[in-house]
Amino acid sequence: MNLQPLGVYIHWPFCKSKCPYCDFNSHVRDGVEQARWRSALVTELEHAAREAPGRIVQTMFFGGGTPSLMEPETVAALIARTRALWDTADDLEITLEANPTSVEAGKFAALAAAGVNRVSLGLQALDPAALRFLGREHSVEEALAALDTARRHFRRFSFDLIYARPGQSVEAWAQELERALAVAGEHLSLYQLTIERGTRFFTDRARGLFALPAEEQAAEMFELTQRRLAEAGLPAYEISNHARPGAACRHNLIYWRYQDYVGVGPGAHGRFAVGEAKRATRRASGPEAWLEAVERAGHGTVETTDVTGRDRVEEALMMGLRLADGIDRTLFAAVAGADPIEVLGKAALDPMVEGGFLEVSPARLKATAAGRQRLNAVLERLIA
Ligand SMILES: C[S@@+](CC[C@H](N)C(=O)[O-])C[C@H]1O[C@@H](n2cnc3c(N)ncnc32)[C@H](O)[C@@H]1O
Ligand code: SF4
Repeated sequence: MNLQPLGVYIHWPFCKSKCPYCDFNSHVRDGVEQARWRSALVTELEHAAREAPGRIVQTMFFGGGTPSLMEPETVAALIARTRALWDTADDLEITLEANPTSVEAGKFAALAAAGVNRVSLGLQALDPAALRFLGREHSVEEALAALDTARRHFRRFSFDLIYARPGQSVEAWAQELERALAVAGEHLSLYQLTIERGTRFFTDRARGLFALPAEEQAAEMFELTQRRLAEAGLPAYEISNHARPGAACRHNLIYWRYQDYVGVGPGAHGRFAVGEAKRATRRASGPEAWLEAVERAGHGTVETTDVTGRDRVEEALMMGLRLADGIDRTLFAAVAGADPIEVLGKAALDPMVEGGFLEVSPARLKATAAGRQRLNAVLERLIA
């Protein structure tokens, strides 16, 4: 039996409106047939249990889109079915992403009763003008009220903020961060605004409607974030994720450690060990195409590939170097099939170590804070 943990990711692809910065697989639809979606998600979950059988599920994650728009019955059905299809850990972590509107906070009690034990709320900003700019449907007050409701129903909760927004000064971000810390629980996700191709912000910026803060200013905000959160007892454990000791999101750790997970729902990805390979699966991303495929064939898979050899090592490296603790070389060899230092070689590693971007020890390979801040450049050099 494979005793490595298994995570189950479930994607809910619908939102009430599309935020102008967001390139996630999220769609706005007039009516969603909840019963039909429930039954299709359960069907594909059963397929996933045939893909990765005999495992112990340690985490579930309802992501989106906006999974807080799911009927609690749908969430309950998926949790119950997961428990029936696999063994599950005693402390099974079940996270759900929620938007902080009053309607959704009104569902928290039912979601907790369904088995959800951790929520991640998309606050995005604690400034009214910024929320309008980001196209959010909630006010600061409504978001803080939703956070209070979350605190009452879930021992574990987190919220997301987006910083390095147009016109935001370092000082303004420092103040917003203090307000965030005053209401934070055990975990915070703090993302720098990125402009993704295909979003409205991409065209708006190209047309000169706004500009991002200069690179040095964004770097200063990142460094301030790292420093202040560490001081407050929630150091970064990943580039954008901060937690009190022991309070990291275990589901996301599965991704970053290159462990196994199955993906259910439109556009969901899976990665799980099959023999010597890591099997990579991807489901159809269009909600209607996915729904029809599941109703016809029992799953919406559009791509299955086996990642092997150097590709597997590179994938694992890209994930593992995001973590502040970096890569555990023994675990890495178990999940990626080789020691990272041996595969990369001294010639590639030495300049990165000398430049202060990587650290190598007998047990670990990790990016330093400076390395994590410019991880893409570091990876390009390592992998080229
Ligand atoms: C799947 S989304 C959010 C879930 C939920 N629908 C919400 O909006 O609250 C996950 C998080 O990614 C972050 N995010 C999405 N697009 C981003 C971008 N372009 N730049 C920075 N952060 C982004 C946001 O903080 C968001 O909460
Ligand atoms: S940020 Fe959240 S609510 Fe906004 S479009 Fe993306 S997934 Fe939907």
